[in-house]
Amino acid sequence: MRTFHFPSIGSTNDEARRLAAEHPGQTLLVTADEQTAGRGRVGRAWRSPRGGAWFTVVMPADRPRPTAPLTVGLAVRRVIAAMIGGNDAVTIKWPNDVLLNGCKVAGVLCEQVFPDLLSTHPDSSPEETGGVTLLLGVGINVNNPVHDLDGMHQPATSLVESLGQPLDVDRLIRHTVETIRQYMRRPFIADDLTPHLAWQGEQVCVTLSDRETRGVITGIDQQGRLLLRSDQGDTVDIDAGDVSRIRKADDQRD
Ligand code: BTN
Repeated sequence: MRTFHFPSIGSTNDEARRLAAEHPGQTLLVTADEQTAGRGRVGRAWRSPRGGAWFTVVMPADRPRPTAPLTVGLAVRRVIAAMIGGNDAVTIKWPNDVLLNGCKVAGVLCEQVFPDLLSTHPDSSPEETGGVTLLLGVGINVNNPVHDLDGMHQPATSLVESLGQPLDVDRLIRHTVETIRQYMRRPFIADDLTPHLAWQGEQVCVTLSDRETRGVITGIDQQGRLLLRSDQGDTVDIDAGDVSRIRKADDQRD
């Protein structure tokens, strides 16, 4: 796997998209010490100062992989859980956050590039375009202090805060990338994720544009959709959205 490292870059996902066009059909790794325009899901800014692990794996695939963010999240979760020696402390907040003791420690941004178009076109079929290239972007807060993360809209933490000593970021990236590649070789199995799903059994609100769905999280289905039980007892499956917890006492959200 060819690696491209940048001391400073806008976004490794953007650079990965450019490099994917230059190196069609190849698996690549793009890393950066810092990103000046790091991106999160739904166009949010992702703060990426020095000390964190910011990288994107460029992975050719025969078809789009809608469950890739969950698979990558599972791989990242596994690495972090092994590192801190606490399996239950590390959970996945659907759809793309890895939480450590309830605080966000990592995020995943998966995008797709179709060779004919060289841009993200979720509606195009791979038959038309002859395959797809996945851009698996991962940000892990490693040695960067958490007060650098104040632009985020949920409590954040870093590995150094939990472990009390700095980690070798390059080593962590190499190990995480290997784990991601292993996980991406196998089919997504919802039951692998369910034991690690954050806020199971809790009342949540899922927001998508101006639409809100409320219910209790009961699991994930085989398509990677979040399953909720509504107040009426129906099962509702959710494709996309932002999940926040509803605190019962005052009906406030976290
Ligand atoms: C999220 O939590 O919404 C996803 C955050 C993903 C951040 C990573 S850092 C490396 C890669 N490059 C980016 O611009 N974003 C991802």
